[in-house]
Amino acid sequence: MRAFYRRIWAFARPYQGRLFLGLVCGILCALMNGALLLVVKVVVDLVFQGTAQRTVAQYLERLPHFLRPLVERLTQALPALNSPPSPLGTVLIISLIPAVMLWRSLFAYLSIYLTNWAALRAIADLRTKLFDHLQNLSLAFFSHARTGDLLSRITNDTQILHNVIGGWLASVIKDPVTLVCLVGVAVSQQPVLTLLAIVVLPVCLVPIIVYGRKVRKSARAMQAHAADLSSLMHECFTGNRIIKAYSLEETVLAQFRETTRQYISHMLRVIRANEIPSQVTEFLGGLGVALVLVYVGFATDPAKGRPDMGAFVTFLGSLFLMYPPIKNLTRLQNQLHQARSANQRVFELLDTVNTITDPPKPVPLQASRADIHFENLDFDYGEKPVLRGINLTVKAGQLIALVGSSGSGKTTLTNLLLRFYDPQRGAVRIGTTDIRQAAIEDLRRQIALVTQETILFNDTVRNNIAVGRKGASDAEIEAAARHAHAHEFIMQKPLGYDAIIGEKGVALSGGQRQRIAIARAILKNAPILVLDEATSALDTESERAVQAALEELMQGRTTICIAHRLSTIQKADLIVVLEHGRIIETGGHAELMRARGVYHKLYELQLGSRADSVMDYRKIITVDSKVRNGLPCIRGMPIAVADILEYLASGMSLEDVLRKHSELNRDDIKACLAFTADGS
Ligand SMILES: Nc1ncnc2c1ncn2[C@@H]1O[C@H](COP(=O)(O)OP(=O)(O)OP(=O)(O)O)[C@@H](O)[C@H]1O
Ligand SMILES: [Mg+2]
Repeated sequence: MRAFYRRIWAFARPYQGRLFLGLVCGILCALMNGALLLVVKVVVDLVFQGTAQRTVAQYLERLPHFLRPLVERLTQALPALNSPPSPLGTVLIISLIPAVMLWRSLFAYLSIYLTNWAALRAIADLRTKLFDHLQNLSLAFFSHARTGDLLSRITNDTQILHNVIGGWLASVIKDPVTLVCLVGVAVSQQPVLTLLAIVVLPVCLVPIIVYGRKVRKSARAMQAHAADLSSLMHECFTGNRIIKAYSLEETVLAQFRETTRQYISHMLRVIRANEIPSQVTEFLGGLGVALVLVYVGFATDPAKGRPDMGAFVTFLGSLFLMYPPIKNLTRLQNQLHQARSANQRVFELLDTVNTITDPPKPVPLQASRADIHFENLDFDYGEKPVLRGINLTVKAGQLIALVGSSGSGKTTLTNLLLRFYDPQRGAVRIGTTDIRQAAIEDLRRQIALVTQETILFNDTVRNNIAVGRKGASDAEIEAAARHAHAHEFIMQKPLGYDAIIGEKGVALSGGQRQRIAIARAILKNAPILVLDEATSALDTESERAVQAALEELMQGRTTICIAHRLSTIQKADLIVVLEHGRIIETGGHAELMRARGVYHKLYELQLGSRADSVMDYRKIITVDSKVRNGLPCIRGMPIAVADILEYLASGMSLEDVLRKHSELNRDDIKACLAFTADGS
């Protein structure tokens, strides 16, 4: 519990001035309650007993001490007050009741406003700190966290903290002081009766204790269900297409209903736990009053023992004024339980340590013209081994391609380069610097990444590209878009670069999104380029165009390129084949093809999908089937079969393939194409 106060106080400390002022106003408000009762007594005495002998000044002197200076000033200013009460004097005395009420309300308002002012700001700071902390947590954290749960903790739980703390602060000092004042006044008027009236109150501790325990459990469950609800909503709204496509509306609705039902049932428990003790208190208060009246009616001697009217009214008034603070105080405990569980959920996140942090003394990192070394890397996601014994050097300015079946660890390897994760063993060095010794910002600034899933923000096209480099001019953004072959489709949008692309870029096609992401990378102009399936969503024609732009971009940069379509990576200086997290082959395209290993097999598999083109080629070859020196020919020119297959697998059109054969002139190519086109 102490830890809870300490942690909350850390956030409230900057606002302690207003907080203190608010608490002081609370105390003043409490004192006004006492003053009000005393004033009521004076007024009742005056009105009901009509003791005409006393002067107004004498009545005023019976008011609490802190009002004395006011009274003295009044009697000096209005000498009439010193004579027996005139109608004006009586009205003046009666008007003290609204006057004290006014002060009481003013102090109550200031107390609530100021404490809430401080609580709101403290919680806003907590929320900001939480957001900042979450943003900087590693990818490992986000791969386990549920977005909805995080949202709920940042919004819901901090809101609960604010409500509780705001209410708690407003009552924690004010209410006990009010009670003390009221009991003081009551005792001063009727000591025996006061004792009688409050003797039953301790019974109300029973429901407070019983329900206190329940509320702790239910508050925690309630907050967890609120998080479930927001998770569910987040998933449903973001995955709405799939929900529609698979007609999951009913299933999701049933889930939503069930979670809401559980949420409500816990919430009702919390409401019960808050309300039952406070209503019991009120009932016990009534019981106390009844006891008092029974005592006054039967046990006291009407001739001498009965209290006078003013004193009795004051006493009853103090009893009734005691209820609200006692009620508040009975709720206090439950509210604290609620706050504690919200607090736990919030601080649990704040206590999550970031595993990827800057070193204490970062060394500057120079990525341009530096080789990248992956040295003896082993990496696991939790229990699951993903990369094993990776040794790889990427020379400065080289293009290396990572290939391998799905799940072989290609993306993971690039994640290690960007320090989204740190390896369990081994190191990644750029030049001679271990990337863990450099500042994260310094490292990531020098790498442009096009991810496998394109991530865009619900903003304008311009701002989405500008993410690549802060402060880029419009001209630079447009140039990057042109290079990525995005300019044309952007200009087709009514608002052009100012078009809003919707959440996650829904207003764009998959290929368009990818081109925006590429434009971003082009704009970033970083010495290292990481392309993870950067062109996978593009049709062959756009891919070729974007590929050309990328090739231009790769000049003078170190590029790591991942592609399933092997056609896109043949120009790579080095092709690295990964299988089950290990490097099993490396080499140039031709070399790997000759080796007839895994790469060759993957290649052949992809070739199969281009069987149609192979048929076309065969047709050309068979038509002109003169064989020279045992080789098939096109228009009498010998062509190596391996050559043909290689070009075919490259994903180029037949025309482009034919153009590669320098021995064929333009007419030959035309004739070949015409031949396949008419199928003769
Ligand atoms: N965040 C994660 N937590 C746990 N396991 C993961 C995580 N990300 C990936 N994996 C696992 O690690 C392995 C390698 O994944 P990785 O994304 O590197 O594959 P990949 O080679 O890029 O595959 P693809 O070609 O399909 O993109 C996979 O088996 C995958 O299931
Ligand atoms: Mg991948």
